[in-house]
Amino acid sequence: MQMKGRHSTIRSWRTADVTALVKHANNANIARQLRDRFPHPYTAADARRFIEGIVAVRPVTTFAIEVDGEAVGGIGFSFGSDVERYSAEIGYWLAEPFWGRGIATEAVRIVSDYAFATCNVLRLFALPFADNARSTRVLEKAGYTREAVLRSSSVKAGAPRDQALYALINPSWRGV
Ligand SMILES: CC(C)(COP(=O)(O)OP(=O)(O)OC[C@H]1O[C@@H](n2cnc3c(N)ncnc32)[C@H](O)[C@@H]1OP(=O)(O)O)[C@@H](O)C(=O)NCCC(=O)NCCS
Repeated sequence: MQMKGRHSTIRSWRTADVTALVKHANNANIARQLRDRFPHPYTAADARRFIEGIVAVRPVTTFAIEVDGEAVGGIGFSFGSDVERYSAEIGYWLAEPFWGRGIATEAVRIVSDYAFATCNVLRLFALPFADNARSTRVLEKAGYTREAVLRSSSVKAGAPRDQALYALINPSWRGV
C-alpha cells in the first residue's frame, strides 16, 4: 500500500522500519503532544511491538510517512464502534528535523482522502491538545473544522489539558 505525495510517500509499515522508527520517535517533543500509549523513551522493543501489531491489519489504516527512502513519521486512523462505526479518529507525528515543510499537512490530506474513498469513513476527527498550535494549523490547512474545545478532557504528565476537536465530513459518503 503506497500513496505518493509531493513531499513524502505514505506507505505501510515494514519490519525493516524498526531502526528508523526508534531514531525518530524517541523524542520528548513528539511524545508530549501524543497519548501516553506513544512511549517515551521509545525503545526497539516498542517499535517491534508496534509494527508487529499493525502489519497484518486490513484494511490498512496505519501508515509510515517516508521521506528520502526512510520512515520519518506515522499517520493513521482508528474506527469508532456501534453508532460511531463510520467515524474515525486520525492521528500523526513527524520526526522533528522535518517539521515546517508541509509534510504533515500533505499526509493528513492524503490519508483523509484514502479513508473516505477506500474505507467509506463518514467523519474523521482529531483531538490535538488545544495549545498544540502546529497540529491545529495542520488540521486547518487540511480542511478540518474546529468544532469545540473540550475543557480538561485529558491529563498529560499529571496536568489537566484542554483538547480541541477538529473534524472533516466525507462529502461522497456511500452509505451503509
Ligand atoms: C504537528 C506536526 C505533525 C506538524 O508537522 P509539520 O510537517 O511540521 O506540519 P506542516 O509543516 O504541514 O504545518 C505546520 C504549520 O504550523 C506552523 N507552525 C510552526 N511552528 C508554529 C508555532 N510555534 N506556532 C504556531 N504555528 C506554528 C507552520 O508555520 C505551519 O503552518 P503554515 O504552513 O501556515 O506556515 C509535528 O510538529 C509533530 O509531529 N509534532 C509532535 C506530534 C504531534 O503534535 N502530533 C499531532 C497530535 S494531534
